[in-house]
Amino acid sequence: MPKSVRPLIAGNWKMNGLGASLAEALTLAEALTEIPANARVALCPPFTLIGRMATALKGSTVEIGAQDVHPQASGAYTGDIAAAMLADAGATLVIVGHSERRTMHGETDADVAKKVEAALASGLEPIVCVGETLEERKSGKAEAIVCGQIEGSLPKVLEGRAFSVAYEPVWAIGTGLTPSNEEIVAMHAAIRAAIVDRVGETGRKAAILYGGSVKPANAMEILALPEVGGALVGGASLKAADFLPIVRAI
Ligand code: PGA
Repeated sequence: MPKSVRPLIAGNWKMNGLGASLAEALTLAEALTEIPANARVALCPPFTLIGRMATALKGSTVEIGAQDVHPQASGAYTGDIAAAMLADAGATLVIVGHSERRTMHGETDADVAKKVEAALASGLEPIVCVGETLEERKSGKAEAIVCGQIEGSLPKVLEGRAFSVAYEPVWAIGTGLTPSNEEIVAMHAAIRAAIVDRVGETGRKAAILYGGSVKPANAMEILALPEVGGALVGGASLKAADFLPIVRAI
């Protein structure tokens, strides 16, 4: 990856984790007194665990992120969470536009861009997710779709701000399938160009994470590819014993 990029390995717990799961986060943090390759490590638990995890991991190397944020700062939005609430609970990062939000909650690129703006306004660093479906890949449209998502999901206010982009092919999430190395390399190069096109030189510093069935067995190979600046890890981030070797593969 380019020298200007600081890698990020982020674990997305999705709708998993109760209080007892904090033990996994603690095991991870205790093992990571130092993180290799100047990388950053984050866990993104469900909203209910953010505050407790922030307390438990205070002073550790592990950062805490949320999995979604509402575009508005406050108001009558039952069940939603504002960026300032996440920051107040101890989050410093937030995943925005995950494909599970885009498909199950109908989030559009424009919604994602508004969420990114809300995150930045409260000092949260966004991890913006993009990725094509299997149909889109098979019909040769993957790069056009993903670059279109970048264009629509990255607001101009990202210029000068810290953020990352996660490339997660929808068909690779939770399936055990991954794109070929060539496909990952080509897509990450296209994403870099699209990011720089959108937000200028700031875009050279953004880490481009790969996500979708990252496991201890494939992490080293994927993380070594050009322009892969880390990983967004779902299932394999739930247990420290699985997540640690992925972090150490950087
Ligand atoms: P997975 O999920 O690692 O379980 O495939 C990745 C993600 O959705 O972020």
